[in-house]
Formats: sequence, C-alpha cells, structure tokens
Amino acid sequence: MKILVTGGAGYIGSHTCILLLEAGHTLVVIDNLSNSKALSLSRVQEITGQSLVFVQADIRDETAMFELMKSHAIEAVIHFAGLKAVGESSQIPVNYYDNNVGGTLALLKAMQKAEVYNMIFSSSATVYGDPQTVPITEDFPLTATNPYGWSKLMVEQILSDLQASDPQWSVTLLRYFNPVGAHPSGLIGEDPNGIPNNLLPYIAQVAIGRLEKLSVFGDDYPTPDGTGVRDYIHVMDLAKGHLAALERNTNRAGRHVYNLGTGQGYSVLEMREAFAKACQREIPYVVSERRPGDIAECWADPAWAQQDLDWSAELGLEEMTTDAWRWQSRFPNGFEE
Ligand code: NAD
Ligand code: WQD
Repeated sequence: MKILVTGGAGYIGSHTCILLLEAGHTLVVIDNLSNSKALSLSRVQEITGQSLVFVQADIRDETAMFELMKSHAIEAVIHFAGLKAVGESSQIPVNYYDNNVGGTLALLKAMQKAEVYNMIFSSSATVYGDPQTVPITEDFPLTATNPYGWSKLMVEQILSDLQASDPQWSVTLLRYFNPVGAHPSGLIGEDPNGIPNNLLPYIAQVAIGRLEKLSVFGDDYPTPDGTGVRDYIHVMDLAKGHLAALERNTNRAGRHVYNLGTGQGYSVLEMREAFAKACQREIPYVVSERRPGDIAECWADPAWAQQDLDWSAELGLEEMTTDAWRWQSRFPNGFEE
C-alpha cells in the first residue's frame, strides 16, 4: 500500500516506518523536523535495507499535502505529526492548537480533495483524564486537563464527526499508553530535546551520566509503593499495533478506537529498578513533590485491540529497558552528530 506518514522522523513514527517497510509498503514521510532529525530516517533505511521518500514539509501546508497525496497516489495516512510536551502546551497553547488541531484540519482537507479516506491517528491515554478506575476500556468518559490533551480530544471529535458525515471514511484512533524502548538494533530511539519530561528517557540520561539523579514525583499515591503506576509499552509493540490497524481497517469504513497498552502497570520505583538491572549501574534518586496534573494510576484494558486487531503487546520490561539502554549507551547524544 502507498502510505503517507506524517511526523515519521519522530520517535514512534520512525519505529513504525521500519515495520511498514518490512511489510512491503511504500512510504512517503513528511516531517517539518521541529522535534526530530532526518538522520532517524536514514537509519530506518539502513536497518531495513529499503528506501522511502522523505519530504520536509509542514502538515499545515494544505497545498503541499494535497500535491504529495496526488502525485504519490496515497491510499492511507498515518498521522503522527504533532507537538507533545504536556507542560509546554500550557505555556504556548495557541501553538499547540494551531499545530495539532489546525494541522490536522489542513491534512483532512487535503485528504478529502485527494480522495484519500483512510486515516490512522496518534491519540493518547491522556484523553481519559483521571480515570475513576483501572484498567481503562475504550468506552470510559473522555476529558482533558491541559491544552495538549484537549488538542488530542478535539482531533478525535473532528475525526468522529467527519466519519459520521461521510461514511466512506475509515478513521482509526489509537490511544497510546506510555511508549518506551527502542529498536533492538540500537540505531534509533527516543531523542528528547533538552531535559526529558518523561520517566524512562530521564532515567536513561541519569544512567549515562548526563543527569545527576532522578526525582521521583511523589511517593504518597494510593499505589503499592506510593509512586505513580503507568502502562509502559515497548515502541516496537506500538509500531506493530499500527500495522495491525492498517491491515484491518483500510477501506473498512467506520470509526475504530483502540487502547494500545500492555494491560500491566509498573511504578516509578519498579521502572528505576528494572533500568538499573538492564544497564548494570546505580540510578540515584530522591523523592520530591508530586508533579501537578499527575494521576496515581493509569493502565489499559487491551482486550478490544486483541479481539478486533488480533494484536497484543509481546515485549516486557526487560526488553523495554535493555533496548532503551542499548540506544542510549550507543548514542549518548541521540541523533546529534
Ligand atoms: P515526536 O515529537 O518524536 O514525533 C512527532 C514528529 O512530528 C516530530 O518528528 C516532529 O518534527 C513532527 N511534527 C510536529 N509538528 C509537525 C508539523 N506541523 N508538520 C510536520 N511535522 C510535524 O513524538 P512521538 O513520541 O513520536 O509522538 C508521535 C505522536 O504520538 C504525537 O502525535 C504524539 O502526541 C502522540 N503520542 C505520543 C506519546 C508519547 O509518550 N511519546 C503518547 C501518546 C501519544
Ligand atoms: C510517568 C511516571 C511521573 C518523570 C505523559 C503524558 C501523556 C503521554 C505519555 C503523550 C509518573 C513519574 C516522571 C520524572 C517521575 N504523552 N516521573 N520523575 O505523565 O504518564 O504521561 O507521557 O500523549 O499524555 O502526560 O508519563 O513518563 O512523564 O511519567 O517520578 O522525572 O513517572 O510522576 O508517575 P505520564 P511520564
């Protein structure tokens, strides 16, 4: 199939491109490189021994999107492009809405014009807000607590309304839990800008000596060890979920929603311990204040994805941490050359 991948130079997109190429798909990747380097895509081609077309462009450029879709006879769009830093989204909300919501609208207009009706969208478990109970199923109430989360929820709503208005559309909303890990080659992985906001990249940078110690944000949550519990999922499992969704839902009209998680929660301290084991180093830490906006527990019920997509996560904590460490230790400065 001929697929347009937006944001494909980024963390999840680049890992997904590997599996898409290996499955024989033809890829046109567009990315404005606002949070990534083109080197990630060179590595994707090195790993797979196959080529893809990369165009540096912005999803907000409707004309460019339309022309690319037409000239490459695109059949489906996998839409990763977006800004994703929760804290930053409260500081510059207009940029977040412009990029994530405005960008998706431009992309959808181009798709309508080019008559491409298959869309797979990167949503997030953040759309469940602070859930009343865990595990979370897809029919839980939706809400948001920051502009980033609202932008995901708004795009979900837009895609749902679009599908309802024009039933030939196939819209797939993939709600990712907490993606971690790297390709087992160690050639690509997560490369955050500045000091990482997320737990695993932060721990990895402590392990490599770029950061002094981990701050554990609160140990008085109502969880077994008092620290926050999340559903960490290996990025290669997540990538596989996209392939499954593409195969199942392309030209299958409707609105399809899935949790992509493992169904298993781990605490901050458990993650720290698993990473220390993987890298055979100490990870010093201090307990600090809770981070505003954080919740105690968040983990998926992945049964629907298993049933409808025949997909489930296969990789555990050991693969997540050893693969992340292979990438971090091989390239301590990420894609910076
Ligand atoms: P990432 O920042 O590594 O990748 C996003 C890519 O999109 C980057 O390469 C960036 O340069 C590009 N981009 C941003 N705005 C663009 C625009 N206007 N035009 C073209 N390209 C643009 O992030 P990621 O972790 O790979 O996340 C991919 C998607 O998954 C995002 O939509 C994100 O919100 C969503 N998501 C991520 C997580 C997570 O924890 N990583 C969790 C849930 C959902
Ligand atoms: C995990 C746990 C922290 C850093 C975020 C977004 C969410 C989604 C995934 C995009 C929590 C604790 C963290 C640190 C810590 N992204 N922690 N010290 O908050 O579950 O989810 O990324 O859609 O929208 O909110 O992930 O990795 O930031 O935190 O103690 O230095 O680690 O309190 O319990 P989170 P995270």
